[in-house]
Amino acid sequence: MDGGWLPGEGVLLFLILHLPLQGRGNTFTINCSGFDQHGVDPAAFQPVFDRKAFRPVLNHSIPTVVNISFTLSAILEVDAQLQLMTSFLWLNMIWDNPFIRWKPEDCGGIRKLSLATENLWLPDIFIEEFMDIDQTPRDLLAYVNSDGRIKYDKPMRVTSICNLDIFYFPFDEQNCTLTFSSFIYTVDHMVLGLEKEVLEISRTSQNLIRSKGAWVLLNIHQRAEKMNVGNHQYDQIVFYVAIRRRPSLYVLNLLVPSGFLVAIDALSFYLPAENENRAPFKITLLLGYNVFLLMMNDLLPDTGTPLISVYFSLCLSLMVVSLLETIFITYLLHVATTQPPPMPSWLHSLLLSCTSPWKGCPPGPQKGSKNLGLPPSHLPGVKEPVELVGKEAGPRGAEENGGPESANTQQEDEARKRHLVDLWVLFSHMMDTLLFRLYLLFMITSVITVIILWTT
Ligand SMILES: *[C@@H]1O[C@H](CO)[C@@H](O)[C@H](O)[C@H]1NC(C)=O
Ligand SMILES: *[C@@H]1O[C@H](CO)[C@@H](O)[C@H](O)[C@H]1NC(C)=O
Ligand SMILES: *[C@@H]1O[C@H](CO)[C@@H](O)[C@H](O)[C@H]1NC(C)=O
Ligand SMILES: *[C@@H]1O[C@H](CO)[C@@H](O)[C@H](O)[C@H]1NC(C)=O
Repeated sequence: MDGGWLPGEGVLLFLILHLPLQGRGNTFTINCSGFDQHGVDPAAFQPVFDRKAFRPVLNHSIPTVVNISFTLSAILEVDAQLQLMTSFLWLNMIWDNPFIRWKPEDCGGIRKLSLATENLWLPDIFIEEFMDIDQTPRDLLAYVNSDGRIKYDKPMRVTSICNLDIFYFPFDEQNCTLTFSSFIYTVDHMVLGLEKEVLEISRTSQNLIRSKGAWVLLNIHQRAEKMNVGNHQYDQIVFYVAIRRRPSLYVLNLLVPSGFLVAIDALSFYLPAENENRAPFKITLLLGYNVFLLMMNDLLPDTGTPLISVYFSLCLSLMVVSLLETIFITYLLHVATTQPPPMPSWLHSLLLSCTSPWKGCPPGPQKGSKNLGLPPSHLPGVKEPVELVGKEAGPRGAEENGGPESANTQQEDEARKRHLVDLWVLFSHMMDTLLFRLYLLFMITSVITVIILWTT
């Protein structure tokens, strides 16, 4: 019917238009004699029912106007992997059937009748994004009023394809389209209109979606456009449904625990570097974090790389880096306290300048740093120097009393060595502090970057 006229169609049209109708005067008024005593007479509607195969118009050059609207009553599921949104909606359609017409005053005051839709011509409105079998119930009713306006509502479970962007997961907003169009009728035969303002559609849907599901309906926008397929043009109305995920589940289950773990990891820098527990502690944290990642894997969308995955990798790498740092510092301390290599002069002067009253570089977190310049002493918690010094304390004590020259030089040697150990230990602590600050700086900038990306 959308192309040129078929040879038989004109005859058919002629027949339709001139079929005898009850009460056919100048209009197709239904003869409802007896409606007030015996109820509605099915025979009176039979001529209308017989025409249901054809588009109900008097002149086939005039398109049928179908006004549509819908009410979104639930957003059931959004599947990021299949890129599908499943929602539930009521589709309302209103159109005119010029063959149904009666005078309410003659028909026992009846203004509105419900009719089984199987007896009526129905517009073939479908949703272009629909990706499932239409499970609309078959035997629905429609309201017909006395001047032939038919109002038909049907419930639909719509599984529509939607281009989902999960980069900002779990703070993501999606913009899904629902395009209503006729399946076969071109613009010459069917024109779509809006039954009510899109703002009203949006508001009633928002009021109706009471379920505290994972998604919030933000708003609905609409645009009418024509779709060209070959040389046929179809009328369509596009609705943009903007929805937003409720992030609290993901914030509580993903972001907060991983934030805590990283915070504990950062705080573990305050464990003394000489303490043997620092590295095992960090390894435990790393293990815990891995278990957490494994468990939380099924909460994450499977496709794409959301920002949250980057955040998790960042947390993991921060932990690994902090473990590496601990290993490095432990090694440095070990070398410093067992066989300290000679210190380069630039490092020596740097260390000296650092420990002078105006500190230009990070001070060591431990008390050990203050020992520089004082008579050599050993650090609390460092075992090796204690042994080193303790072993030599006996002979030293003996030599102090009866001090020959050789003993004096030996003492000086020891003092120099202990001084060197202290310097190296101080250097290790300063390295530790410096690396900790770098770590903090990196952590803060990356967290701020991720947050900025999330909020824009
Ligand atoms: C309506 O139908 C009744 C019989 O059902 C008939 O007697 C009457 O003449 C009809 N009225 C009109 C206006 O055609
Ligand atoms: C049908 O409508 C067209 C356009 O409005 C008009 O030109 C034509 O004469 C009409 N045909 C009849 C039979 O009324
Ligand atoms: C459809 O909407 C238009 C404009 O809102 C209105 O003029 C027309 O009467 C409506 N048609 C039906 C069948 O509701
Ligand atoms: C959804 O996308 C369409 C087309 O890309 C755009 O016109 C509309 O403004 C978007 N709506 C929202 C709420 O972002």
